[in-house]
Amino acid sequence: MTSQKRLDGKTALITGANSGIGASCVKLFSAQGANIIATDIDRMNFNNEIIQIQSDVTKSDEAKKLINDILIRFKSIDILVNSAGVTSRNAIPDTNNDEEIWDRVMEVNVKGIFIISKYVIEVMKTQKQGSIINLASIMGVVGYPETLGTPLNPYPPSKGAVIQLTKTLANHVAQYGIRVNAICPGFIETNMTKSLTKNQSTKKIIEGLHPMGRMGKAEEVANAALFLASDESSFITGSNLLVDGGYTAK
Ligand SMILES: NC(=O)c1ccc[n+]([C@@H]2O[C@H](COP(=O)([O-])OP(=O)(O)OC[C@H]3O[C@@H](n4cnc5c(N)ncnc54)[C@H](O)[C@@H]3O)[C@@H](O)[C@H]2O)c1
Repeated sequence: MTSQKRLDGKTALITGANSGIGASCVKLFSAQGANIIATDIDRMNFNNEIIQIQSDVTKSDEAKKLINDILIRFKSIDILVNSAGVTSRNAIPDTNNDEEIWDRVMEVNVKGIFIISKYVIEVMKTQKQGSIINLASIMGVVGYPETLGTPLNPYPPSKGAVIQLTKTLANHVAQYGIRVNAICPGFIETNMTKSLTKNQSTKKIIEGLHPMGRMGKAEEVANAALFLASDESSFITGSNLLVDGGYTAK
């Protein structure tokens, strides 16, 4: 007897797949039977079963070509996980120019989702189904802790925009059977937070901000993404799933 996997027969496009939450989604979704197209601005190193395409989410021409290439190989795009993202700490290496950093954070975190979603939604409309999952953040819901950053940090506003983009898109495409949801993780142990957590006292402060007393793991966020990607969440759209160890419940 063969056991049914949760994403059997589905095709999933995952951005920001080289690291952290995106990489965990690649592994988990693949184990659950999905065909994966992993994309990242950096080169990836998954096994041969995973299709890996280097692509920058901020480049419209690259996104358009990416979607065309996927459709040559697969007949549908059922799932899109928008995990590519940057913080003010890693948006542009070697610069202190706060306006350039602001622009790049907004460009990757917000416009990147807009660009990929624009092309994927056209495909999903013809299929009359699809699930889009946007990685927002608790920082789109509450203010960034004053102990950790500057008041003019572009990251929280970029994630607030992702939540609003999610709701608006969800409203507009529900009629085509397309669901759009956001996930708001708390602080997760990935490359993104490494520069903060290498300082042990900062790590302790961050852990203490979560009632569960620890940071989250990328796999714990990927599990939430799997639920939103699968048919188990068939009546959920426009939602904002907190995966934050109680951070925003305080
Ligand atoms: N780690 C956390 O604490 C945390 C918390 C809340 C939300 N998030 C969000 O989750 C998502 C994934 O974060 P992560 O922790 O896995 O980060 P990460 O830094 O480990 O991975 C992000 C990936 O995105 C890729 N990327 C960056 N710019 C890109 C571009 N222009 N085009 C394509 N790929 C690009 C990077 O190369 C990297 O592989 C991000 O949107 C992030 O903002 C992370």
